[in-house]
Amino acid sequence: MVVPAAGERFLDLAAGTGAFSRALHAAQPAVRIVAADFCVPILRRMPAGVAHRIGSDALRLPFRAGAFDGFVVAFGVRNFADPARALAELRRVLRPSGRGLILEFMRPERSWFGAAYRLYLGLWVPFLGGLCSGSFGAYRHLTRTVRSFFTRDEFVSLLAGAGFSVVARREMTAGAATAFLVQKDS
Ligand SMILES: C[S@@+](CC[C@H](N)C(=O)[O-])C[C@H]1O[C@@H](n2cnc3c(N)ncnc32)[C@H](O)[C@@H]1O
Repeated sequence: MVVPAAGERFLDLAAGTGAFSRALHAAQPAVRIVAADFCVPILRRMPAGVAHRIGSDALRLPFRAGAFDGFVVAFGVRNFADPARALAELRRVLRPSGRGLILEFMRPERSWFGAAYRLYLGLWVPFLGGLCSGSFGAYRHLTRTVRSFFTRDEFVSLLAGAGFSVVARREMTAGAATAFLVQKDS
């Protein structure tokens, strides 16, 4: 949904171990990527040479206005203490008409799948995730934040309020995750 052009500057916010920095780099090796996350130890796990890594808080980005041609935020917005403020920061650091991709867990709408998904999210995710990772708290956090996050329509309103138009939207796994391709309004 978002393929950078050679020489463009992209921000991977809440980059974690850099899965999306690597995807951007694979799509366009000549893109200049800044990977930002407020957890510096996780950034260190990113392979060297893919992105310039910077420890920073999404709510107070240390970049000048218009610094980036595009951004990606994958499974990050749901974790921000103040998503509206983070979106305002993303808008500030994006150049006019710049674009961004936000990928986030959402709740499926179809009733039969929704019921199965609620069971999966409430029981399997914390249990199996906790068992495999050894961190039950992390997977309880995942369930809690997915349950309390915006609906798709609420999130589109939040994006509009922050000065972004949704150019394209793609639902995956019957809506368990949704990608929003957005453009900065002029
Ligand atoms: C679920 S991980 C996603 C990582 C990566 N984008 C991916 O998809 O693999 C969420 C990341 O958001 C980061 N994060 C949460 N709140 C943040 C904030 N306010 N500022 C910067 N990073 C934040 C966490 O440190 C964590 O690495």
